[in-house]
Amino acid sequence: VGQKNTFERNQIFTKNFSGELSRFLKKKKYSNHFILVDDHTVNYCLPVLLREVAALESSSIIEIFSGEAFKNIETAEHVWEQLTERHADRRSVLINLGGGMVCDLGGFVAGTYKRGIDFIHIPTTLLSQSDAAYGGKQAIDFLNYKNQVGIFKDPAGIFVSTVFLDSLPAEQVNNGFAEVVKHGLLAGGELWKKIHTIRNLEDVKWKELVRDSIKVKLAVVEKDPFETGLRKILNFGHTIGHAIETNLMNKGEETLHGFCIAAGMIGELFLSHTVCGLSR
Ligand SMILES: NC(=O)c1ccc[n+]([C@@H]2O[C@H](COP(=O)([O-])OP(=O)(O)OC[C@H]3O[C@@H](n4cnc5c(N)ncnc54)[C@H](O)[C@@H]3O)[C@@H](O)[C@H]2O)c1
Repeated sequence: VGQKNTFERNQIFTKNFSGELSRFLKKKKYSNHFILVDDHTVNYCLPVLLREVAALESSSIIEIFSGEAFKNIETAEHVWEQLTERHADRRSVLINLGGGMVCDLGGFVAGTYKRGIDFIHIPTTLLSQSDAAYGGKQAIDFLNYKNQVGIFKDPAGIFVSTVFLDSLPAEQVNNGFAEVVKHGLLAGGELWKKIHTIRNLEDVKWKELVRDSIKVKLAVVEKDPFETGLRKILNFGHTIGHAIETNLMNKGEETLHGFCIAAGMIGELFLSHTVCGLSR
């Protein structure tokens, strides 16, 4: 009795995007709103956000280049510089509007600027809505190592609207779907059954599946926030997947993380069966 549910405890809002975000901002009374976007979300997502939430009308916009190659210290420095030049104080908030790249980099920058200001994630890709935005890991890549420098810090709030997925290219939907499948396999039961019946990704009603996916991730993260044991199960598919991803990247071939993880899961399940003797 009186226990907050998982979504409330983690300050995750998925029901009524504009209403929930407007109420949240009103309550927090931040001195300034800064919105971090990349060169795609500035066109596809920012107009939607500004239309939905009047309180953000006069926000200060900081734009960065999109893509993993820019999730680095130079981009972080640019954002710190912009915050400084525009006089962001300790009661300012940085709103990260984008996929996992923008959320990771923005979370890291805000979490370290003036020893940490509040930040909000508004994930706009399927991968970030179903996985990357939750769990408090914020990082940038460094010296060719992925997520080499970062912090564990939770956003003040995470606001999810699948409306943003409308502009997402099909390839990026496929990419994010790999993590949804991963959560389905980890959870089993009803979620796996639901995923198993999907034939065409264009027909999927994402709202419900995204919520289910978040629940699986949070159930694990809440038990092991700093990945000392159980949280490692979220790396399912990633041992082989990262090997494939690194190999392709070293050869200069383009690839998407989710595709490599999907191949990784198949490989690891195959080994579970043939080497460890788990049931088919
Ligand atoms: N912190 C974590 O726990 C965690 C977990 C998993 C992955 N990640 C990180 O997430 C990143 C990958 O995230 P991602 O797959 O979201 O990639 P991303 O952020 O690079 O976005 C992919 C592409 O989609 C574009 N885009 C974003 N939203 C859009 C929209 N609504 N419409 C049109 N285009 C849009 C982006 O500009 C980009 O070009 C990686 O850096 C990875 O390390 C972090």
